Amino acid sequence: MTEPIGRQFMRLTRYAEMGPGDEALGKPQPPLETAPAAGATIIKLTPPTALGIPPVELRDAIEQRRSLRDFRDQPLEEVELSWLLWACQGVRMVSSLATFRNVPSAGARHALDTYLLVNRVEGVTAGLYRFIAARHELELIRPDEGGAHSLKARFAHACLGQHFIASAGVVLIWAADVYRMAWRYGQRGYRYLHLDAGHICQNAALAAEAIGCGLCPVAAFDDDLLNAALGLDGCDHLALYLAAVGKR
Ligand SMILES: Cc1cc2nc3c(=O)[nH]c(=O)nc-3n(C[C@H](O)[C@H](O)[C@H](O)COP(=O)(O)O)c2cc1C
Repeated sequence: MTEPIGRQFMRLTRYAEMGPGDEALGKPQPPLETAPAAGATIIKLTPPTALGIPPVELRDAIEQRRSLRDFRDQPLEEVELSWLLWACQGVRMVSSLATFRNVPSAGARHALDTYLLVNRVEGVTAGLYRFIAARHELELIRPDEGGAHSLKARFAHACLGQHFIASAGVVLIWAADVYRMAWRYGQRGYRYLHLDAGHICQNAALAAEAIGCGLCPVAAFDDDLLNAALGLDGCDHLALYLAAVGKR
């Protein structure tokens, strides 16, 4: 009987199966983060030092967290969006070899990019953005023109019709830049990409508690539709995980 693909994956990505990765072979390191496109519209977010979000008890945040799918119409404030991004991807330190952020990452590779589908955030036009973590800025990819072909309808459709995607204030989408991880870990890096995504989403979930928001993680999606909506090839760059965030 053919071995199921999941078992094959776990077996073939054991260290015993791994040859030297590209790093060990002396190949140059890929960039720590993809730079914004030339001429892209850049939005500066409230810097992490000026967030001023009131503290929340960690125990309360852990106990109150639950997946939220019914959001109020109230928009998030820009500073709240900045807080969420800081909590789940904020950069503490950059060296020539790695970035160190508010979440752990295998080998500090931080190979996930955060895309944002902004639906209702005060001061940020609805549209698709990418978070440039090292600069704490947003790169506008495309505005949401609304109507029948709205981005939010497209993303909800890509997420198998989960309608709360379209009613969230913002949807965070984590997409892997595979080689940033595989350069060190080869095929085993795929395991780490998924583990990293869990850390990121959980920090976002706890941070949401501090701003009267809730979040629902989403991993049920049509890969091809979602990657196409993000403009990703689905091989070297591909979406792994999302979180719909909105006011309670
Ligand atoms: C990896 C993962 C994928 C998930 N995908 C979805 C999803 O696509 N749609 C959804 O409504 N909830 C999704 N959830 C949320 C779970 O259904 C939810 O965490 C679970 O029912 C437990 O409820 P709680 O989060 O309120 O504790 C996902 C959760 C995880 C951790």
